[in-house]
Amino acid sequence: MMPEGRTPPVPSASPELDPESFRQAGRALIDWIADYFAHPEAVSVFPKANPGELADKLPACPPVHPSPQSEILADFERVVFPHLVHWSHPGFMAYFAAGGSAPGVLADALAAAVNNVGLLWKSSPALAELEGRTLEWLAEAAGLPEDWFGMIHDTASTATLHAMIAARERAAAAAADAGSYLDLNRLATYTSEQAHSSVEKAMAALGHGRRRCRKVPCDGRYAMRPDALDRAITADRNAGLTPIAVTATIGTTASTAVDPVPAIADIAASHGLWLHIDAAYAGAAAILPEMRHHFEGCELADSFVVNPHKWLFVQMDCSVLYTADPRWLRSAFSLVPEYLTSQEHSRAINYMECAIPLGRRFRALKLWYVLRSFGIEGISSVLREHIRLARLLAGWIQDSKEFELAAPVEFALVCLRYRPGGCDGVRADAASRALLEAVNATGQFFLSHAELRGRYAIRVSIGNIRTGEAHVRRLWELLNSLAGHTATDPLSGRP
Ligand SMILES: Cc1ncc(COP(=O)(O)O)c(C=O)c1O
Repeated sequence: MMPEGRTPPVPSASPELDPESFRQAGRALIDWIADYFAHPEAVSVFPKANPGELADKLPACPPVHPSPQSEILADFERVVFPHLVHWSHPGFMAYFAAGGSAPGVLADALAAAVNNVGLLWKSSPALAELEGRTLEWLAEAAGLPEDWFGMIHDTASTATLHAMIAARERAAAAAADAGSYLDLNRLATYTSEQAHSSVEKAMAALGHGRRRCRKVPCDGRYAMRPDALDRAITADRNAGLTPIAVTATIGTTASTAVDPVPAIADIAASHGLWLHIDAAYAGAAAILPEMRHHFEGCELADSFVVNPHKWLFVQMDCSVLYTADPRWLRSAFSLVPEYLTSQEHSRAINYMECAIPLGRRFRALKLWYVLRSFGIEGISSVLREHIRLARLLAGWIQDSKEFELAAPVEFALVCLRYRPGGCDGVRADAASRALLEAVNATGQFFLSHAELRGRYAIRVSIGNIRTGEAHVRRLWELLNSLAGHTATDPLSGRP
């Protein structure tokens, strides 16, 4: 028995930080991040790292004893930091940007702190309702049908997989209504030869075979040819296959080409196919009225994916899947174990009934935070600037003798080829590749490449919230100055 008036010591085996230590460590971390954001160009955008180098610096055994927070942050700086690719560097122009924003960092910290897990509405009303409302805002801002059902996934690959499952579910129901059944070994889907690999991967993951994702040929602008789509569907039907879905892309990965959605929607409707739209990158541009023409016909889609983590300055990962009729997702995924049964309410959405994962992170918080922080107005002005910069660069390329545009500039991606002395074919491929490597080696920019009609193209993807005209001008100067130095004949090695 403890003597009266004495508080028993708290025998705590927990290694958790006490509130004061947390406050101190947190302040140090925020200071670190603020400095990082204040001097984004103090570091090389791409590390000089070799595979295995970081792994070799780390101990082979897990830490046994607790380490002080200050030591962990110092080790992060010393050991991990030199191996980072700086996605939030203004010279990051590879792939598609996913640099996020400062409010996104705050939101992610808050989401981690409250750590709500969205299983069903009851497990976090905040998560469920914030997700519903922010996705309604996004649909409204992008001119998409306001009655579409939206749901946040980790990536567009997952979202597209869910769209294909919904398509299959609807086709199975139609077959059942006709007194038949869906032969899973005979399904086919369609997309363009320029579509992202995630569309094909969905068919592989579902066990229907990658080859059954038909790659429809494109026109001179890298957009799907509707006549070829119609012929492919008809040929498959005649061969006894069951076409179930078409995926059109608005903003392809290689060159941001835009498939002709109205014509594709007509074909999909005439064959009774699900129409999915992959606007993972370009969907953000739908908030700009002057870019809406690219999204004509989207209201006819059955599903639509856009990644706020690409060009809406939300931290990775945040991919939104909209669907016109969530019944098919529910029909595929509504399997509620007894311990998760709850009272039904029309306003209480249980997202677990519409997707593979049960537990979900509070991703809506960062979307809400970024939309609140910048407003549609603030986001629009950055997108407009990126598009202006891409057109500026494209103009310089068109006026130059040694460079050429490799694809039309639809959004904020510029694909170019370097053709010293007017060379073409494999010589221009090799010259462009050498130039890209030389630019990346400076550490000031990180560019990636694409293959367009079998030829190598340098991709300049402008999408970072910190990228401005000065960066694009510097890149153009660098491309020109390095061009002189890399202009040996790549095949003979002679200047
Ligand atoms: C058009 C398009 N669709 C899908 C994806 C896949 O995105 P995620 O990494 O979110 O799966 C990408 C990736 O860049 C893309 O460009």
